[in-house]
Amino acid sequence: MLKINNLHTSIDNKEIFKGFTLEINAGEIHAIMGPNGTGKSTLGNIIAGKEGYTITQGTVEFEGVNIFDLEPEDRARLGVFLAFQYPIEIPGVSNANFLKAAVNEIRKSKGEDPMPPNDFLKLMREKMALVEMNKDFISRSVNQGFSGGEKKRNEIFQMAMLNPKLAILDETDSGLDIDALRIVANGVNKLRTKDNAFLVITHYQRLLDYIIPDFVHVMYDGRIVKTGDKDLALELEEKGYDWVKELEIV
Ligand SMILES: Nc1ncnc2c1ncn2[C@@H]1O[C@H](COP(=O)(O)OP(=O)(O)O)[C@@H](O)[C@H]1O
Ligand SMILES: [Mg+2]
Repeated sequence: MLKINNLHTSIDNKEIFKGFTLEINAGEIHAIMGPNGTGKSTLGNIIAGKEGYTITQGTVEFEGVNIFDLEPEDRARLGVFLAFQYPIEIPGVSNANFLKAAVNEIRKSKGEDPMPPNDFLKLMREKMALVEMNKDFISRSVNQGFSGGEKKRNEIFQMAMLNPKLAILDETDSGLDIDALRIVANGVNKLRTKDNAFLVITHYQRLLDYIIPDFVHVMYDGRIVKTGDKDLALELEEKGYDWVKELEIV
């Protein structure tokens, strides 16, 4: 589904990725862990299409398409979704209208008609239940005045509504209490199918008690330095991030 090969990228002449390689197949959950400032959010941004990054070497392919020249909205149409570390507020646009536009835009790109209003309402109710969201949030402006935890929950709600092929969660767990963490993880676990995939970026191991990854990658200084299963996350938690600095590059 996603193939990143030997990626070197820079921003403002600062090299951030230094030979990053990762392959994600349908049905898999991958976790990326690593110290702050190591390039985790950059990874999400590069896949989702945030501008400002220059690729100096390597490729990013999504379902066989080189996506690096595609606009973020075109990548979203292909089925890429990024839940932000710091979700943005959109004053004056209700959550419901925002999602209606997004859902219908994706349908349009597939040659489908807009979703009938009743079906849309039904879908919203179903997905709100999934993330245990109060219906008041539907009519409120996107993320405006939401608490940190509510914003994160709203990101998972958006993800559930859009049903992406590849969902990237950038530290969706940070700032969440245990209940919210469970809700976020529950959302991922229920949305998981053999046809979609998740890239879970996290600084802490805790989320991975609830979302069991197939692969855990340790990122350091712009590349993956070690790959393992969920036990690697526990090892990392125990040994701390100083340990990764001494790892051989794999
Ligand atoms: N716009 C930018 N200009 C210059 N440096 C940047 C920019 N965005 C990110 N960086 C740098 O890239 C590195 C990786 O950042 P980031 O991907 O946010 O790390 P992480 O999410 O792992 O904490 C950091 O050193 C950060 O300061
Ligand atoms: Mg980050």
